[in-house]
Amino acid sequence: MSRETPPEIVVRTAVPEDAPACGQICYEAFAAISTAHGFPCDFPGPEATTGLLSMMFSSPGVYCVVAESGGRIVGSNALDERSVIGGVGPITIDTSAQNLGVGRKLMQAVMDRANNRGAAGIRLTQAGFHNRSLALYASLGFDVREPLACMQGRTRERGLPGCTVRPAKPDDVDPCNTLSRRVHGFDRGVDLAQAIEQGTAQVVEREGRITGYTTHLAFFGHSTAETNVDLQSLIASAESFAGPGILVPSRNHVLLRWCLTNGLRVVQPLTLMSTGLYSDPSGAWLPSVLF
Ligand SMILES: CC(C)(COP(=O)(O)OP(=O)(O)OC[C@H]1O[C@@H](n2cnc3c(N)ncnc32)[C@H](O)[C@@H]1OP(=O)(O)O)[C@@H](O)C(=O)NCCC(=O)NCCS
Repeated sequence: MSRETPPEIVVRTAVPEDAPACGQICYEAFAAISTAHGFPCDFPGPEATTGLLSMMFSSPGVYCVVAESGGRIVGSNALDERSVIGGVGPITIDTSAQNLGVGRKLMQAVMDRANNRGAAGIRLTQAGFHNRSLALYASLGFDVREPLACMQGRTRERGLPGCTVRPAKPDDVDPCNTLSRRVHGFDRGVDLAQAIEQGTAQVVEREGRITGYTTHLAFFGHSTAETNVDLQSLIASAESFAGPGILVPSRNHVLLRWCLTNGLRVVQPLTLMSTGLYSDPSGAWLPSVLF
């Protein structure tokens, strides 16, 4: 099928007033692609996407752009700039303007921004069933890194012997950053400090020291730990996971099987992709839906 004539597209920085229009587009774009493949939508309704984008469009740590065609907003994208690695998303295009090159322009805008600011790399997660986003990101230079299983539920085991999970405190940021640098090669300290302030972050202690942390056991939270046991303790401490679920790297077969044995259900497949610096993590981890 040949593509229509590309519309004249202007990309500009997003402002908080753009959130209602972008939130509506974001919800409808995700609902359409998920429904077409028989998956639940990542968001319960346009209020949730508007709330999320409204927060992102007014956050100093996130660079946000919108695309306009004939003065009408047709899509938006965001780049989390809180660490040396940039995280992309959510990117969504109006369902009536998809496959016309708008997404490529919005991706190029955040990639240019990250490169100009000297980011060491850029990462994102992609809905595993979506041909178009896989093709778009791969053609822009993103490599497939990890298959992910979004999982939801409540584990049967409610804790692991020798591990204590407790809310994270501001003093925990330093040891957590050290752990993150050891596992991933960089830290996400700003993200973690904000999560501590919001009351969603937790740490796990074993033999009197911190062996893992999570910013939130949720779609938008990430977790890093020394071992699977530490990560399992964090997962087991949650009553449920906010949003669609946590993202379990499927190649971590021990963790994936532990989650399944514990009654968690797979919601949908995703793929972690990256461009620029990437080294295989040396520990146990769950990415957020950004990276
Ligand atoms: C994914 C999304 C952001 C892409 O934006 P878009 O404006 O539709 O995409 P573009 O037209 O800029 O680029 C799509 C590219 O994929 C190519 N493509 C599409 N389907 C393809 C397929 N099955 N195989 C190979 N290439 C394909 C197109 O030809 C185009 O490449 P080109 O620029 O080299 O011609 C948009 O479709 C969207 O909002 N989807 C729903 C929400 C979503 O999934 N967001 C992403 C979350 S991971």
